[in-house]
Order: sequence, then C-alpha cells, then structure tokens
Amino acid sequence: MRNKIRFVQNGQIRELENVDPNQTVLNFLRYEDAQTGSKEGCAEGDCGACTVVLGELKGDEVQYQAVNACIQFLPMIDGKELITVENLKSDDGHLHPVQQAMVDANATQCGFCTPGFVMSIFAEAQGKARSDLQSINDVLAGNLCRCTGYGTIIEAARNAVTSDTSSHFQARKTLTAELLSELANDEMLATSGANNQFFAPTTTSELVQLLDTHPEATILAGATDIGLWVTKKHERLQTLIYIGQIKELKQISDEGDFIRVGAGVSYSEAWEILQSLSSDLGELIRRIASTQIRNSGTIGGNIANGSPIGDTPPALIALNATLNLQSSKGVRSIALEDFFIEYGKQDLLSGEFVASVDIPKIQAQQRFRTYKISKRFDQDISALCAAYSLRLEGNTVATYAFAMAEWPEHL
Ligand SMILES: Cc1cc2nc3c(=O)[nH]c(=O)nc-3n(C[C@H](O)[C@H](O)[C@H](O)COP(=O)(O)OP(=O)(O)OC[C@H]3O[C@@H](n4cnc5c(N)ncnc54)[C@H](O)[C@@H]3O)c2cc1C
Ligand code: FES
Ligand code: FES
Repeated sequence: MRNKIRFVQNGQIRELENVDPNQTVLNFLRYEDAQTGSKEGCAEGDCGACTVVLGELKGDEVQYQAVNACIQFLPMIDGKELITVENLKSDDGHLHPVQQAMVDANATQCGFCTPGFVMSIFAEAQGKARSDLQSINDVLAGNLCRCTGYGTIIEAARNAVTSDTSSHFQARKTLTAELLSELANDEMLATSGANNQFFAPTTTSELVQLLDTHPEATILAGATDIGLWVTKKHERLQTLIYIGQIKELKQISDEGDFIRVGAGVSYSEAWEILQSLSSDLGELIRRIASTQIRNSGTIGGNIANGSPIGDTPPALIALNATLNLQSSKGVRSIALEDFFIEYGKQDLLSGEFVASVDIPKIQAQQRFRTYKISKRFDQDISALCAAYSLRLEGNTVATYAFAMAEWPEHL
C-alpha cells in the first residue's frame, strides 16, 4: 500500500503525505499551496469560481476535464494532472490564448469568476473544441458571473476554444503522458489524517475486503453529493473508500439486449451511449447539473444516494433497469425499482456496493419519453422528473411503466 498522494502539476510530479482525507482540492490550493487564483464562491459546485482541470491518461492520450475543486477531496487527484489558472501562462510569461481572448473581448469586470470561466473554456479547448453556441452554453453552464454579463464571455469562449494550437500545453503533451504513465500503477492508496482515513482500491476484490473490514466506511464516487456533507454540513468523514480508481467499475459494455454501466462511470462518460439508446435519455443526462459536475458525478452515485429528486432513477425504472449489487457473498441483481424501499432507505446490505446498472435497449415497438422540470433550465435540480415507457402491439398498449421523482414537500 502507498500512503503518499502523487500527481502531476506544471510538468512535474508532486508528492504529498499526511493529507487530511476531508481536505478539498480548493482548500489545499488556497490555504496550503499559495495558489489563490481558483476562488471559492459557493463551496457547493454551483458557481464554478473554483474550476480546475484534471488530466488523465486514456490509452496514450491525456484527456482533460473541468471539475469543481471545492467539492473534490485532495486524494481523489492521485495519479492525475492538476491544472490551475496559475499554470496557464507560458514560461516566458505570455497569457494563454484563452486568457488573451477574455482580455480581447472585455469579458471581465471584478474578475472573481474569471479564473473559473478560463478553466472551463481551457478544458474544452484541449478536448472537443466545439464553438457552436449550444456547446459553448453547455461548457459555461456551470460558471456564474454577477457583473460582466454573459455576452462578452460567450464571445471570448467562441473565439478561444479553437485557438489553443501552440501553447506550452500542446508542446508538453508527450512529457505529461510520460509522467502520468509513471504514476499509473495498481497499488492501493491508503492515506490517513489525524483521525480519518482514505482508501483508493484498484480492484473490486480489494473493495469487497475493505468493506468487510470497515463496514462503517463511506463509499466515495464523484463526491458531488458527499463533498457538500463536508463543505456545507461541516461533517467529518472518518473512513472514505474511493471507487474512482477501480477499472472494473468504470466499464461500459454492450451485452446484447442491454447496456451495462459500471458504478464508477461518470455522466460525461455515459452520455454518448445513453444518447444512442434514446435522445431523451441523452438530453436528460445533458441537463444534469453542469459540465464540471457531470465530469465527476456518477449514475451509480445518483442511484445509491437514494435522493427523492435524483434524475436518473425515474428513467431507468421506466426502462426496467436491473441493479447489480456486490459484496463478499457475490453479486445480487434486483430490479432498480425494488432498491428504493422508502424515503432515505435503500436495499443496500452491509458490505455491499452498487457495481453496475443494466439498462435494457429500447425495442422497435416500445415508446420511451422522459421529462425534467426545474426552475432554471441548466444547472438545477428537478422540481419534477418523470419518465414513461410503453410497448405497443398494433394500436394497443400491451405494457406500460411510469416513474416520477418529485421535490418532497417537507424539504
Ligand atoms: C451543483 C450540483 C448540481 C446537481 N444537479 C443535479 C441534477 O441536476 N440532477 C441530479 O440528479 N443530481 C444532481 N446533483 C446531485 C449529484 O450530482 C448526483 O446525485 C450524482 O449522481 C452523485 O454521484 P457521485 O458520484 O458524485 O456520488 P457521491 O457524492 O460520491 O456519493 C453519493 C452517495 O452515493 C453513495 N455511493 C456512491 N457510489 C456508490 C456505490 N458504487 N455503491 C454504494 N454506494 C455508493 C455514497 O456513499 C453517497 O452516499 C447535483 C449536485 C451538485 C453539487
Ligand atoms: S466554489 Fe462555487 S462551484 Fe466551487
Ligand atoms: S466579473 Fe465579476 S463576477 Fe464575473
């Protein structure tokens, strides 16, 4: 077992020990590392002022994703590249093309939100680099600005996403990939603070053993719920078991009649295949929170948290999805509908974890629709989310399934 956290920043490997597992990436940057470019606006994943970019090795390529540093725990960046707004300027001090585009478009006033916007646009520039308005709106939906107004920011983003062809990030990509592959290994990270501990198993058998030894542990996936327990409810989580390093749980597989989505698959990773099953399902995923949250949050976490207003359960229940729960006793498969026993109570036994969800493919005679109503179109939880699926025989409805999640009156 390894107790040091290792990550790449600015072309170098960094190592940290004795890290408090409840410490967020943002607090580390601002209070311990004197990198104060990333700001804290809300500390709950809503405003995007804290946006940083994580690079991960996928095959030989480094892929970049924007995340909210305020709700990511520091040990979660183990094995990844961390890029903050401080890292964008070139070695000779020139602004990155994304920063320059913000200056050129007069896209900033007080500047508080600006580093977050820059990092969201930077991530898009490193990846798909889409400049159509719909895509730019998606890229920026998780960043709020109180003073500039969005017109100039959108203009800067549209100009900038295709401009990053010569920055030092492009020049350094091979080195970064080499450094990340140096960090890649199958040794479990086990780090502890004063009175809490963090495990990052790399296989499901390690996870099963850990859950047997630590039945009180909190399973941590994307932290888009759990992060807020620490930053908003001020809880201290004693034992965290992070599933984000387990490759088996990050698989998506086509099993013929159904698609199996591992519990560690993020919304962003699942979007393409779910969109191919149903454009309604794709749109539902696209409307969950923001790009930053979708890059971290998982469907497994959305199910396991048992939230009465989780967006994916109604659609998946209407599609008759099956949930696979795993423990040292083996795999138990149940209808997703049966997982939710009552408000706040799920059918998850001690030592068990959500391993995957099986989503049946939609048949030719089947009609499926899902709807979300929220106060804001983007970056808002549902007031009501509903889905139906019906199977036709000729002009007759042979079977019908309907599921709905509604904001509870007592909350
Ligand atoms: C700003 C913001 C906007 C949001 N918008 C939406 C929205 O529009 N729609 C929506 O539905 N949700 C929304 N959420 C809630 C959240 O993003 C989702 O519920 C997300 O799917 C949680 O997944 P996660 O991987 O981050 O889970 P985590 O926070 O890591 O965990 C959540 C819970 O699930 C448990 N858990 C996680 N994985 C497993 C597993 N494999 N086995 C057993 N237990 C497990 C954890 O122990 C914890 O109890 C939003 C959250 C934020 C902060
Ligand atoms: S501080 Fe608002 S999203 Fe992180
Ligand atoms: S420039 Fe002031 S909040 Fe955006």
